[in-house]
Amino acid sequence: MSDPTRPAGPRIIAIANQKGGVGKTTTAINLAAALAELGHRVLVVDLDPQGNASTGFGIEAQHRGLTTYDLLIEDAALEDVIRATDSPNVWICPATTDLSSADIQLVSNEKRSHLLYDALRQPAIDAYGFGFVLIDCPPSLSLLTVNAMVAAHSVLVPLQAEFFALEGLSQLMLTIREVRQTANQNLRIEGVVLTMHDMRNNLSQQVENDARETLGDLVFTTVVPRNVRVSEAPSYAVPVLTYDTLSKGSQAYRALASELLARTMAEA
Ligand SMILES: Nc1ncnc2c1ncn2[C@@H]1O[C@H](COP(=O)(O)OP(=O)(O)OP(=O)(O)O)[C@@H](O)[C@H]1O
Ligand SMILES: [Mg+2]
Repeated sequence: MSDPTRPAGPRIIAIANQKGGVGKTTTAINLAAALAELGHRVLVVDLDPQGNASTGFGIEAQHRGLTTYDLLIEDAALEDVIRATDSPNVWICPATTDLSSADIQLVSNEKRSHLLYDALRQPAIDAYGFGFVLIDCPPSLSLLTVNAMVAAHSVLVPLQAEFFALEGLSQLMLTIREVRQTANQNLRIEGVVLTMHDMRNNLSQQVENDARETLGDLVFTTVVPRNVRVSEAPSYAVPVLTYDTLSKGSQAYRALASELLARTMAEA
């Protein structure tokens, strides 16, 4: 259902899981590229001091200019932080290691959880005509991830098809519940997407079965396979959809984008 309390504008999705290396950044980059291929204008917000999404789009650390740190801490204007990428229809707010000090710097700021919310409601967001904003969260449930959840309409959770994958989810769900109770009552779970899935691996299959049994329809039908082309693409500074457009990984992210759009339409 559309939310009357929120201004019309892009659908803002936080890509979050406090577990490291589960495919958050890979999903942010390639889902953005897949939505862009379908004609949507997409903004990726790199909210991780590691800056992997920025690197993945070829924005080198020394050329990042103003970053999400400036956006959140220094009140920089959104239009001064947004950068075009080489992928048509994809823009990025880049991040650098500066962002790692944000948590500490914000402790005494009363609006500390709402900074990204405010930043993404600047008029520039309308001027660009974004259909989607994808926020690449760091591997923690820190203030940065809370900012993403406060700013977002929904949370998309990449889940690596590995042992213990489901263990961390309860903590993540707890944080989502807390954000709902305190700052963003309409925050939804967009869905859980299984990543780095290996069809030949029984464990992968078992994690998928467990996830579907426990989480039901929240789990996307689309599963992202482990595919070496996906892991090679960032070193060429492009999404896998550009690097190897027919690879299994590219096809999976296109299917994920279509599924996401179909879900969004069903809700409207
Ligand atoms: N489908 C895939 N097939 C093969 N390798 C993948 C796939 N998805 C992600 N990877 C690789 O797994 C590693 C972790 O992925 P990624 O950086 O997207 O995770 P992350 O959750 O963003 O990590 P972090 O928590 O550190 O931010 C990367 O080296 C990436 O290239
Ligand atoms: Mg990452």
